[in-house]
Amino acid sequence: MRTVDLITKKRDGGELTESEIRFLIQGYTDGSIPDYQMSAMAMAIFFRGMTPEERANLTMAMVHSGETIDLSAISGTKVDKHSTGGVGDTTTLVLAPLVAAIGVPVAKMSGRGLGHTGGTIDKLESIPGFHVEIDNDAFLKLVNRNGLAVIGQSDNLTPADKKLYGLRDVTGTVNSIPLIASSIMSKKIASGADAIVLDVKTGDGAFMKEMSEAEELAACMVDIGSRVGRKTIAVLSDMSQPLGNAIGNALEVKEAIDTLRGTGPRDLTELCLTLGSHMAVLAGVATTQEEARGLLETAIRNGSALEKFKVFLAAQGGDASVVDEPERLPTAKHAIPVPAKASGFVASIAAENMGVAAMLLGAGRATKESRIDLAVGIVLHKKIGDPVEAGEALATLYANSLSYEEAMAKIYESIGIQAEAVHPPALIVGEVK
Ligand code: URA
Ligand code: CA
Repeated sequence: MRTVDLITKKRDGGELTESEIRFLIQGYTDGSIPDYQMSAMAMAIFFRGMTPEERANLTMAMVHSGETIDLSAISGTKVDKHSTGGVGDTTTLVLAPLVAAIGVPVAKMSGRGLGHTGGTIDKLESIPGFHVEIDNDAFLKLVNRNGLAVIGQSDNLTPADKKLYGLRDVTGTVNSIPLIASSIMSKKIASGADAIVLDVKTGDGAFMKEMSEAEELAACMVDIGSRVGRKTIAVLSDMSQPLGNAIGNALEVKEAIDTLRGTGPRDLTELCLTLGSHMAVLAGVATTQEEARGLLETAIRNGSALEKFKVFLAAQGGDASVVDEPERLPTAKHAIPVPAKASGFVASIAAENMGVAAMLLGAGRATKESRIDLAVGIVLHKKIGDPVEAGEALATLYANSLSYEEAMAKIYESIGIQAEAVHPPALIVGEVK
């Protein structure tokens, strides 16, 4: 097989066979196919697309390019959740203990984030002592004992995806739905998921800003899942404003604790109940969405979800007393209110820009090497549709230095206020299964 023939085949609209796709991915992973040929292929795929069979074959070729995690030692159906990313998305921190509390085993492999705030692991590391450096054996035992554990992502998971994603990033080929779908699905499958719940975001703060693109990506991932024997469901959710109120690592941990206690933001709670119900049904813990939702609501009300979070933190070295005393979490030196300059109704909160503001304060990483400040960030006091009086705080900015002017300006730039009443946007905007 010659790589150039496969490139021209795809360039001219042909369909690659399973063995051709395997040849490409193996060759690219072992270095026998150079970057320049793979970038030509990525560009051909960008313009020509892929058939459903090609997407499924690409996904599985990437799964088998490296290590795969065997979760068969854990009893039950392992359901993983994936979010296509957004701003201030605290769902994993809430969902993991919440669904574990009703008997859905959660064996979570997570990473550090590149973005506006850290990833789930960075957020959890704001809890004193908590760590994810546990070996595979200990990980499996913890899930069997407590129903929940989080381990750091193996370096050798889907190396083909890692390399290809890096290449796409610098060749203008990130925004290809089949490439995104196979990239996401390959990581979930390699980490051992039997079933997958996807939270596909749409709107300003999302990867897929248009609803039609988000729907197409969701349908594409659900189709891949069904072709490779992993039942997959996608929920489409709104990211036209940040989810919940907190954007920042320790601030989001505190928000997750509030939500597990039943006093969290309404949108975050609702999204967690929706995604959690799908997870519970796929895991066979409930037979209907309604039954699952009832179980989850009970776990919040009777304290078992919060208790599960404490047990999980303590099992991985964390100081579980932060749950009852959140002031033990890293706290920023300065808490500065952001007063509204006019009265009216909040009409927009540009999610992406709010993320940039949090990043300017030090909450996120610009490069893999940057250090993040776990304490800083933003807490919104108003969301789209809320009435506001001039002088009333729209948000509080948490900073560790007094040079927060740029972040403050970004926040003002992000929040639009108008005189007429505004309808808050719907949170759950679609579902694909
Ligand atoms: N996220 C991924 O994991 N892969 C992509 O290709 C795009 C976003
Ligand atoms: Ca949040």
